[in-house]
Amino acid sequence: MKKISRIGVLTGGGDCPGLNGVIRAVTKSAISKYGMEVVGFLDGFKGLVENSYIHLDLKTISGIGYRGGTILGSSNRDNPFNFMAFKDGENTFSDQSDRAIFHLNELGLDGLIVIGGDGSLSIADQFYQKGVNVVGVPKTIDNDLSATDVTFGFNTAVETASDALDRLHTTAESHHRVMILEVMGRYAGWIALHAGISGGAHVILIPEIPYNIDNIIKHIRRRQWHDKKFSIIVVAEGAKQLGGEMVIQKLVPESHDPIRLGGIGNQLAQQIEDISSVETRVTVLGHLQRGGSPVPYDRILSVRYGVAAVEALVRGEFGTMVSLQGPSIVTVPIREAIKEQKMVDPQNDMVEAAKAIGISFGD
Ligand code: F6P
Repeated sequence: MKKISRIGVLTGGGDCPGLNGVIRAVTKSAISKYGMEVVGFLDGFKGLVENSYIHLDLKTISGIGYRGGTILGSSNRDNPFNFMAFKDGENTFSDQSDRAIFHLNELGLDGLIVIGGDGSLSIADQFYQKGVNVVGVPKTIDNDLSATDVTFGFNTAVETASDALDRLHTTAESHHRVMILEVMGRYAGWIALHAGISGGAHVILIPEIPYNIDNIIKHIRRRQWHDKKFSIIVVAEGAKQLGGEMVIQKLVPESHDPIRLGGIGNQLAQQIEDISSVETRVTVLGHLQRGGSPVPYDRILSVRYGVAAVEALVRGEFGTMVSLQGPSIVTVPIREAIKEQKMVDPQNDMVEAAKAIGISFGD
């Protein structure tokens, strides 16, 4: 097996806290432990297609571990296998993967670390099928990747959402209102579930458990009878009514998943006010969940993932993703991780525990 002496790294998909931590760990361990050279492609796979990159050395990555975002830039709409270009006044799509591979070879790279969620890792797997020595690192605030216990970025998003719920409590109580917090998560309810429990929500609505509006109203009224004149609801952007559809905010056609969710919070508020006349307000937490410094858990996980990704390249475990399983970091085929999204099991013990302490899921 050829010695790995030059590697590339890129961050793809929506950003999240901890990306810089992985870039730092990859660069530090590759240089300090193995004497490798490291190249960082800019703006995700776009940089690979357009050959735009920077050299990463110990100076470049100094002091970035605690910073949110990614020094390399990211994109959740550039897919080399269906690459968008603006030509003759319109958007055209073409397969530019060979061009990307040409650039990898021209730079003499022996391996590529792709830090991304399911979209970026699917692309990474396609490159692996074409002979590129790829290793993936699981990233997303949504925590919806299979084959790993946790993705980095998730715990920071939960912290932000939980803090927002704490703040909503005091104002809800003052005005005897229903306060709705709409959080991200795409088709999975992990952020809503974790933040809802930690932030003391009275109702948690997630995509995996379609809700009945009458049950939510009953819950709010029951609280009022017990002299609790306010209620806090956390709703995942992908939550839907029984027999209803998810609320789509916009479509981004060139994206791996063109659907952008959003708007369920306002829809729900309208329903609650119409049926119950209880004054209701909505906060859409949005991209605040993706910004800011990673919490210690994510900083540590980023270091573990970054170091493990370099080790996986050295061992020749191409086409794999580093993954947290219990106390250990292991490698799994990228295929396993992208096969299906990891959803909340409505029977899982967290849902059961939440119900046991009186939290309603509207079911
Ligand atoms: O996958 C991460 C995520 O933040 C989702 O929770 C959200 O639905 C989506 O990305 C938002 O995407 P964009 O940054 O394109 O608005």
